[in-house]
Amino acid sequence: MTETLQDLLVHYTERVRPRVDRALEAALPRGDGCPRRLREAMHYGLLAPGKRLRPMLVLMAAEACEGSSAQAMPAACAVEMVHAYSLIHDDLPAMDDDDLRRGRPTCHKVFGEAMAILAGDALLTLAFQTLAAMDAPAAVVASCCAALAEAAGAEQLVGGQADDVDGPRPGADLAVLEAIHRRKTGSLFGVSLRLGALVAKAKPSQHAALARYSRAVGLAFQIVDDLLDVEGAGEVLGKRVGKDVDHGKLTFPGVLGIDASRARARRLVDEARAALADFGPGTAPLEALAGFVLERNR
Ligand code: IPE
Ligand code: IPE
Ligand code: MG
Ligand code: MG
Ligand code: MG
Repeated sequence: MTETLQDLLVHYTERVRPRVDRALEAALPRGDGCPRRLREAMHYGLLAPGKRLRPMLVLMAAEACEGSSAQAMPAACAVEMVHAYSLIHDDLPAMDDDDLRRGRPTCHKVFGEAMAILAGDALLTLAFQTLAAMDAPAAVVASCCAALAEAAGAEQLVGGQADDVDGPRPGADLAVLEAIHRRKTGSLFGVSLRLGALVAKAKPSQHAALARYSRAVGLAFQIVDDLLDVEGAGEVLGKRVGKDVDHGKLTFPGVLGIDASRARARRLVDEARAALADFGPGTAPLEALAGFVLERNR
């Protein structure tokens, strides 16, 4: 990544991230009906210091399609809520059994398994409540709800997680692995770009370019996640490393080796950048984020 794009992403993040966090905080339930411990567990999982890449992608996509980031904020929050729920559940003993997330003890370590499950349930539900309350034409709201439901559902995120926890079957190869990664992780990247474009009433050509971009970036992101589990530093990542091998997970470095996995991620990020080439101005933040996905150490 060039120095300029790196700086651009740093400045974008400094400007946008506090707004995302304020909107997430404001969306949490305040009513008496929500038990205090449940709200605390939701707050803990949602507002812990993650990278907020998915909400930033929603806002970047909306801006690239000449929409306003303010209008796209509920959609940005909704995607981060689904992501936060998926992490809380991913860390449970019945799944990856992790004790560290975003540099802190995992939600179930602090609040107990039952409350962590419920906080995840409530965040997933809140995502759709947030989208449904969005100030946009009814047809846009309905399209956003449908797109997020599909991406988060049994054929995408949850389906990918189900295959991931089932473990590699005999003869599982690169195609199987890629299908898992595209669903468990790529789907949320895809819907982030799609929601931004939907809110901004993007042209079909813009939707198509952003879909190509997100398909490439989403897979590259999980390949790099697998690589960081092998080569990364736990204190920078904020989560334990070496756990994929311990749990016998099907991963890119496990199947392809480290160098070929890195080369694959690099080609995917080149593909993502190429998808933006005909888009016109306003895609520099998306280009910068693709570079970060490849070069990140956290
Ligand atoms: C972690 O995602 C889970 C995966 C899909 C690999 P992130 O690395 O984006 O997690 P946070 O949001 O920054 O904590
Ligand atoms: C997580 O994949 C994907 C989802 C949460 C949907 P991983 O299990 O590899 O993520 P980390 O490494 O725990 O963040
Ligand atoms: Mg997992
Ligand atoms: Mg995990
Ligand atoms: Mg991982």
